[in-house]
Amino acid sequence: MLRATELAQRILQPQLAPGDWVIDATVGNGHDTVWLAQRVGATGRVFGFDVQDAALEATAALTLELPQVTLIRRGHEQLAEYLPADAKHKITAVMFNLGYLPGTNKHLTTQPTTTLLALTQALEYLCVGGLTTVVTYPGHAGGKDEATAVQSYVNGLTSAYTVTCCARTNAATPAPELIVIERVR
Ligand SMILES: C[S@@+](CC[C@H](N)C(=O)[O-])C[C@H]1O[C@@H](n2cnc3c(N)ncnc32)[C@H](O)[C@@H]1O
Repeated sequence: MLRATELAQRILQPQLAPGDWVIDATVGNGHDTVWLAQRVGATGRVFGFDVQDAALEATAALTLELPQVTLIRRGHEQLAEYLPADAKHKITAVMFNLGYLPGTNKHLTTQPTTTLLALTQALEYLCVGGLTTVVTYPGHAGGKDEATAVQSYVNGLTSAYTVTCCARTNAATPAPELIVIERVR
């Protein structure tokens, strides 16, 4: 079965090229960070945000040989403070994988308020044609409220963006949802 996180990578793959600047807004175990780093290569840049030391340490170990990766121990809601000024309108992809890190403290989860702050900032950094992917987890306690908040937020975006949603619809419990936002102008 194709998972929402894999679908996000498949959608981003044709958009990414060596030299691109991208953001992993929820580094976690670093799977997306490494994947992005491989796509943008040594001439690109990956800015990764997370609030958990364990996540950042694990990802730092995975990215030792990938100097294009910059890990930032800050919440993604502070994204604009920690990105270089020349990143504005230069970012080709932003990945959000919301929720908590599997196998760790479920209380250290993303929260609707900070997620929406981060999304607002991330969209301002996208170049025209750039994509933001957001995977939400409406089947988890807490995840449902966050998924509803994100859906409501993206539904209200101006026509400078297009929004596409994708989720398995015949699952017994609400399945993870993938939201793809493209900046069109
Ligand atoms: C589902 S995990 C991400 C999985 C990751 N993409 C991977 O490939 O392993 C969600 C991550 O979001 C992080 N997180 C929670 N609140 C955050 C915030 N305000 N800013 C950035 N990351 C946050 C958690 O610490 C957790 O590592």
